[in-house]
Amino acid sequence: MTTLVLNGPNLNRLGKREPAIYGSQTLADLEALCVKTGEELGLDVSFRQTNHEGEMLEWLHEAADHAFPVVLNAAAWTHYSIAVGDACAQLTAPLIEVHLSNVHQREEFRHHSFVSAHAKGVIAGLGFDGYTAALRHVAALAA
Ligand code: DQA
Repeated sequence: MTTLVLNGPNLNRLGKREPAIYGSQTLADLEALCVKTGEELGLDVSFRQTNHEGEMLEWLHEAADHAFPVVLNAAAWTHYSIAVGDACAQLTAPLIEVHLSNVHQREEFRHHSFVSAHAKGVIAGLGFDGYTAALRHVAALAA
């Protein structure tokens, strides 16, 4: 089953970006892990990242139109984009919200999410493991 793993702004900077918070591994490392995990689970993972909100909206619309499950790290858009939240509201297949860091231990503005209300579950603070856990859950739901 096609499963979209969607990543928002600045996540292309993984490995260089605030490594004390986000670790030293790169987005390419995360993609390889998600694709490999998907293969093990029988999921056809399409892994994407964008710094452009409109592109993220179009990917979410694609997921809505095809009833694709979504693993979403909307990064900073999580906290302020009503448009991303409204796109998430249109999804019919499971949506799992993921954050590498534990946003609840960080600044107050990271505690609110426009995604969570539409997500089946939220994983924060487990680093790359959060993505593999989300994919495992998607596969279990489909089994
Ligand atoms: C993040 C947390 C967000 O608050 C932040 O804006 C990000 C990454 C995470 O994965 O921990 O860019 O979503």
